[in-house]
Amino acid sequence: MSKQSRIFKLCKLKFFKSILERLLSLINPSWRKQMTQNLNTQSNNLITQDYQFTQTWFLNVCQYWPELFSRLGWNSKEPKMILEIGCFEGQATCWMLENLIDNENSQIFCLDIFEVPEEEQTGQYKYDLKDLFQRFIHNVSVTGKEDLVQVLVGDSKYNLSQLVSHELSFDFIYVDGSHDAKDVLADAILGWMLLKKGGLMIFDDYLWEFFEQDIVSAPKMGIDSFINCYSREIRIIRTPQNYQVCLLKK
Ligand SMILES: C[S@@+](CC[C@H](N)C(=O)[O-])C[C@H]1O[C@@H](n2cnc3c(N)ncnc32)[C@H](O)[C@@H]1O
Repeated sequence: MSKQSRIFKLCKLKFFKSILERLLSLINPSWRKQMTQNLNTQSNNLITQDYQFTQTWFLNVCQYWPELFSRLGWNSKEPKMILEIGCFEGQATCWMLENLIDNENSQIFCLDIFEVPEEEQTGQYKYDLKDLFQRFIHNVSVTGKEDLVQVLVGDSKYNLSQLVSHELSFDFIYVDGSHDAKDVLADAILGWMLLKKGGLMIFDDYLWEFFEQDIVSAPKMGIDSFINCYSREIRIIRTPQNYQVCLLKK
């Protein structure tokens, strides 16, 4: 395709996108703007309120979440089931409680061993693990929605198997637990069994390179293997960054 025809195609796409945005704002002018604004304001709460966070991993990667959930038509007023695999101090949990949940019948299940492997605890990556669980409980209680949170302590594979045997199902699953490729693959497969059709799964740390050449100790190979095996059931959602991977269940 010549350069001119590529530019022409791009202009056409932009033209249709602007028409669609206009139509949406005619239906409800304040809808999109309001929701994105609300969600952005709430992210600031994670810094200004009485939270105890020693890491800002989630705040570094979540900038696009407000727009993504708004684009997918997420309605926090409806009862929602959310599963977070790996919650650490609860920064993502608190963000989800503040932004994705506004119904007393909603629930967030949080799975964690509340440990970080010794080998990841080097140099600048020394985490304050003392009282990690208490810090998680404190942070979640700051939201005032702690009654909506179920915590399952232990290796995620076993707790996920329990959830599968109880036939629970979820609207959104955030996979951010063990970073070993085989563990991420196991979390993905078991999590997928729990995800509703039309549900969303986000993987963190797709491009994590902590162990450099040691690819079996990083999430990417686990995520890629999962996507390959389940490709018929998956729609990949484009995001402005590649550090996380977002999948919709067809
Ligand atoms: C990167 S942190 C999660 C951060 C959190 N999602 C956030 O955004 O604030 C990873 C967490 O996974 C947990 N984890 C590691 N291996 C696990 C396993 N096999 N089962 C359950 N949790 C695990 C660790 O204890 C740690 O708290």
